[in-house]
Amino acid sequence: MMSKKVRKAVFPAAGLGTRFLPATKVIPKEMLALVDKPILQYGVEEAIASGIEHIILVTGRGKGAMEDHFDLSYELDATLEKKGKRELLALSRGISSMARVSSVRQKEPLGLGHAVLCAKELVGDEPFAVILPDDVIDADPPCLKQMIDVFNEKGGSVLATQTVEGPAISAYGVLAGSQDQKNPRIYNCTGMVEKPKFEEAPSTQAIIGRYILTPRVFALLEHTQPGAVGEIQLTDGIKALLKEEKVFGYTFAGKRFDAGDKFGMLQATVEFALKRPEFGEKFRAYLKGLV
Ligand code: UTP
Repeated sequence: MMSKKVRKAVFPAAGLGTRFLPATKVIPKEMLALVDKPILQYGVEEAIASGIEHIILVTGRGKGAMEDHFDLSYELDATLEKKGKRELLALSRGISSMARVSSVRQKEPLGLGHAVLCAKELVGDEPFAVILPDDVIDADPPCLKQMIDVFNEKGGSVLATQTVEGPAISAYGVLAGSQDQKNPRIYNCTGMVEKPKFEEAPSTQAIIGRYILTPRVFALLEHTQPGAVGEIQLTDGIKALLKEEKVFGYTFAGKRFDAGDKFGMLQATVEFALKRPEFGEKFRAYLKGLV
């Protein structure tokens, strides 16, 4: 039984973001703003609110803006200070003091499994979280916190899932397994099927971008062969892990948005904007006036 605390979160962010071109030609997808915050910051804030102490960014060429965002910005801070803009200064400084942030480069985008493997040395021999920053999740308690509670209770890796009814399930990796007797949100995972046909989907549980994994997965990923498109899939590493350790699915409570996709980002923008006290009502009235 694994008893170590989950202290570190890996953010794979070295992908090319082709679904969001042309916006992502120069700007990392993870730096696109959802209302007024880069989507990456939502994930980092979720991790910190869940008790994570160390953020590990897996980055690639041209993605330095992500590291800069969590660093001090001397010129900006000095100017804000001189102009007496205290609130904005606190906002800027707050981001840089938010958490301990390290980064590692994935030299080629060889797949999500490979990106996670790049964080092996920084994670070391302890359980860790993986957060895909383009999955922005609105949940209270935060999705990762809910998962850490399951990890602490069950002592095995945890994959976040959401229930997807109907043919839309074919767009996801789908969990196979049986529901826990006591907690219907928990599944004892026995397998995973990548993008199955609707008729062949083993369940309604779609695997989304939050994982808690034991460090054993690194050794297994090292031996994972690249799949059809030459990428090392995280799913294949987890499938190998399943043969050795218990893995659980967990239907988190909350709402997920795929902000790496144009339509998903539009939905997230509307819903997050409506929740903002400073202009939510005004925005609602504006939207009502349009339809
Ligand atoms: P996605 O497939 O959603 O990201 O991978 P992508 O490849 O950047 O986007 P599209 O499909 O071309 O629009 C999920 C996450 O895994 C990271 C991505 O940055 C994203 O956060 N990733 C993917 C890596 O870090 N390395 C990879 O080799 C692949």
